[in-house]
Amino acid sequence: MAPRALIAGNWKMNMDRVSSEVLASALAQNVGSVAVDLAVCPPSVYLSPVSVVLGSSGVALGGQDCHTAQNGAHTGDVSPEMLADLGCTYVIVGHSERRTDHGESDADIRAKTTAALAAGLRAIVCVGESLAQREAGETLAVIAAQLAGSVPDADPAALVVAYEPIWAIGTGKVPTTGQIGEVHAFMRAQLRDRFGEGADAIRLLYGGSVKGANAAEIFAVNDVDGALVGGASLTAADFLPIVAALDAA
Ligand code: 13P
Repeated sequence: MAPRALIAGNWKMNMDRVSSEVLASALAQNVGSVAVDLAVCPPSVYLSPVSVVLGSSGVALGGQDCHTAQNGAHTGDVSPEMLADLGCTYVIVGHSERRTDHGESDADIRAKTTAALAAGLRAIVCVGESLAQREAGETLAVIAAQLAGSVPDADPAALVVAYEPIWAIGTGKVPTTGQIGEVHAFMRAQLRDRFGEGADAIRLLYGGSVKGANAAEIFAVNDVDGALVGGASLTAADFLPIVAALDAA
C-alpha cells in the first residue's frame, strides 16, 4: 500500500517571530480534514513559538538540521533530542544547502539520520544532483551514491527521502514529469534492494520550485508521495493550494 502522502514546508532562514506565528496560525486554521500529513520546518529559533500556535491542529513540526550528539560541547548546534523536546516529529537532514554551506558529507548525513531516528524523529533525507551532473548524464549514479551513503539501515517507516535537484531549488526550473518519475522509480528500486518490501513505506518527496500551478502534475507521477516546498511554503496563499493538490491526488 502506498504510504500516506506528506507535504513539508522548509522555511529555510526566512520569516521572523511574528510572521512565523501568523503563518502557523493560518495553516492550523485552514488545513481542515486533509487526508495528507502536513509539516512545517521553521528556523530553529522559531520552533517553540510555532509549536505553541500549531497546538493540536494536526500540522506537524520539523527541524531543518540536527547534530549527531544528544548534548555536549557543540556551540550553535541543536540535538535531535532538543527538537523532539519542542514537539518536532520530523527533521530535514542533508539538504543541499547544508551539503554546500556546511560541507556535510553523506557519512555526516547518515550519522545525523541515525541520531534523529534514535531520538524518535522521522528523518527527511535530501538527495539531488547538480546541473553539471545532470548534463553529464550522472544523475542516477549520484542519487544511488547519495542514497547508499546517507540513508542508514533503519526502520523504513521512520524514513522520508526527498529528491531535490539542486538546479530546481529556488530557480523556477522544474524537471519534466518524466525526469521526476525516472528518479523516483529508481530511488524506490534502490531502496527495495536494501529494505525489501519495507521500502514501500518510505515516503519519496519531490522538492524544487513546487508551486500551486505545477503541484497537481507532479503529484500524479508514480512514486511521488508528497513534496518538500521552500519558497512557496512561506505564505498560506501559496502553500495551501499545494496541500489541496496533494489531497486531491
Ligand atoms: P524551493 O521550493 O524554493 O525551490 O525550495 C525547495 C527546497 O529546497 C525545499 O527544501
